[in-house]
Amino acid sequence: MTSFNYQELIDSEQALQKRSIFWDPAIYEEELKQIFNRCWLFLGHESQIPQHGDFIRTYMGEDDIIVVRGKDKVVRAFLNACTHRGNKVCQAEGGNTRSFTCSYHGWSYNTEGELAGVPLEKEIYDNLDRERFGLVPVAHVESYKGLLFGCFSESAPSLVEYLGDIAWYIDVVTDSAQGGLEIVGAPYRTEIPGNWKLPVENAIGDGYHVAWAHAGAMSVVGALGHGRSDNVLGISANNSGVDQSAAIEVVMNTHTVLTTLDGQSGYALYDHPEPVLAHLEKNRPSVIEKLGELRGRQLYGSETHIGVFPNLQIIQGLNFIRIIHPKGPGKFEVWTYAMCERDMPDATKGVIHDHVRQTFGPAGLLEGDDGDFVEAITHSAAGYATRQLKGFLGMGMGRKAAWDGPGEASPGLVNEACQRGFYDQWRRAMEAHNAHEIIGQTEPTAPLTSILREVRHG
Ligand code: FES
Ligand SMILES: [Fe+2]
Repeated sequence: MTSFNYQELIDSEQALQKRSIFWDPAIYEEELKQIFNRCWLFLGHESQIPQHGDFIRTYMGEDDIIVVRGKDKVVRAFLNACTHRGNKVCQAEGGNTRSFTCSYHGWSYNTEGELAGVPLEKEIYDNLDRERFGLVPVAHVESYKGLLFGCFSESAPSLVEYLGDIAWYIDVVTDSAQGGLEIVGAPYRTEIPGNWKLPVENAIGDGYHVAWAHAGAMSVVGALGHGRSDNVLGISANNSGVDQSAAIEVVMNTHTVLTTLDGQSGYALYDHPEPVLAHLEKNRPSVIEKLGELRGRQLYGSETHIGVFPNLQIIQGLNFIRIIHPKGPGKFEVWTYAMCERDMPDATKGVIHDHVRQTFGPAGLLEGDDGDFVEAITHSAAGYATRQLKGFLGMGMGRKAAWDGPGEASPGLVNEACQRGFYDQWRRAMEAHNAHEIIGQTEPTAPLTSILREVRHG
């Protein structure tokens, strides 16, 4: 247990969040331990590393990670830290290799992480036990339909258990892609001076800011700029009205989703949505057959923001996977991966990739706006008096929407249900004693094998 009063930091009944959670280095240190060292974290997509020796670099919390496909085709993940003295063994962001060689003294490791070469080994060591000095593996690596995740916690629940009900929504993205999903190019990376939680809750649930904060950008993006539409996500031009029946926000155990439910508005902001919409309609009958009417007609093609706790967003429609890597309490990197269905024509993939770059790439019209807000909120918490204040996410509390899918639905995108869900989950994770409690499971007090041993030996 920790010394923080989480009831005071996150008051779920009043929907208040103390602003010190965006600034306090001690809270951040606790987040690395309680959240990033225990939760399943997104590593990348299998399409990025199809062959033996293919690798990518990423982060789990602040830990630098190599994800590599071995000779046996198995994907493994390792700390990018030489077991000799800790230098990075891989400087490249990705590629194909037979080994990872440390630039300090030359120790090298194969694609299975084993120590394979030590310069002058025979001359300087008496029987160096190479097995002790392989790269340190991430305890668990699993794929959910091509989406790769890793978890540091030895005793964590399985990935499928961790995802729980959110898998029902992820399946709309993964199963509807006939030939599977494909990541186009390398992820865009942007460093922003703000706290990691703010871009997460902005992306998973803040529909309120879109028409206001992005008004300038919206006037030149896609349908609004071209006069094909006078509303965005149910909000009328000039903030003159809102249709709260046009969408829902859903809070599940651990994760969240918001969706427009109309089967096509995910592409409303595109300059030229026609090729993407044509592909969707061609594909829709097979999606309905596979996933049923509700998901095939209402979710497939909608703008849907899937929030996987703690830091992953899978965004259908805008078509990107986005991960927020913390870099200290006051800084994060956002990585944005353009995502397509593999069997889309190349021209259609190009339309999607262009839109991702124009909106959420490093110079994207929308990414820049949001960066300013999260920076301002974070850095105002440097002030002692300001840090004592609490943010308020009370919008739509107690309002329920009828919904036949998993989770508890609340009406409209101008709603703060998903953001409340995120901070409630943050509090559960920070108070948890083990990885199971994070998702509301109870764990046996000792691993089963040791219980059996005790039973056998009296
Ligand atoms: S630190 Fe890597 S070989 Fe010495
Ligand atoms: Fe935004």
